Amino acid sequence: MGRDLERVLISEDELQAKIKELAGKIDADYAGKDLLIVGVLKGAVMVMADLARALSVPLEMDWMAVSSYGAGTRSSGVVRVLKDLDTDIAGRHVLVVEDIIDSGLTLSWLVHNLKSRDPASVEVCAALRKPDANKVPIEVKYIGFDIPNEFVIGYGLDYAERYRNLPFIGTLAPHVYGGTE
Ligand code: IMP
Ligand code: MG
Repeated sequence: MGRDLERVLISEDELQAKIKELAGKIDADYAGKDLLIVGVLKGAVMVMADLARALSVPLEMDWMAVSSYGAGTRSSGVVRVLKDLDTDIAGRHVLVVEDIIDSGLTLSWLVHNLKSRDPASVEVCAALRKPDANKVPIEVKYIGFDIPNEFVIGYGLDYAERYRNLPFIGTLAPHVYGGTE
């Protein structure tokens, strides 16, 4: 594993500090409101778990699974719902929690889909954002880190389903995905 990792981009401490900072803002914004946080499987598992525990406002948690990426590093542009919400979100304040926004295709589709269900509000919290995200007109209210256009792993993010369990964000060595070393 050590050889597959190129470098640590965001350390565990930096991630945890940022999650607490975001939780403080979310607590203030949703005080007195009925909050439902929606994690997007599988990448958002870590950020959902940490964010949920850092929040003080009463909340419920639900999950959606959508597919936009295959086993490679490029977006297919096709979004499929693999698992829908268990909750009826009509009248609810929904906060979508995402691992990363790259092209923004997944998120813009998802927000559009959720808004059609008549919720009181839909906002987005993403741990990471890549530069291409500004091409898609989605408002992301809570953002952890803006990162360079590199393929990253860890803290829920995978390459071919591996490395999700790393507690930090790292970049993948080129030999892992077929580049030259
Ligand atoms: P988008 O539709 O291009 O914004 O892609 C969003 C999804 O692609 C994310 O939720 C991730 O699951 C995946 N993804 C995008 N960039 C990366 C990356 O650098 N590493 C791992 N997964 C990524
Ligand atoms: Mg994702």
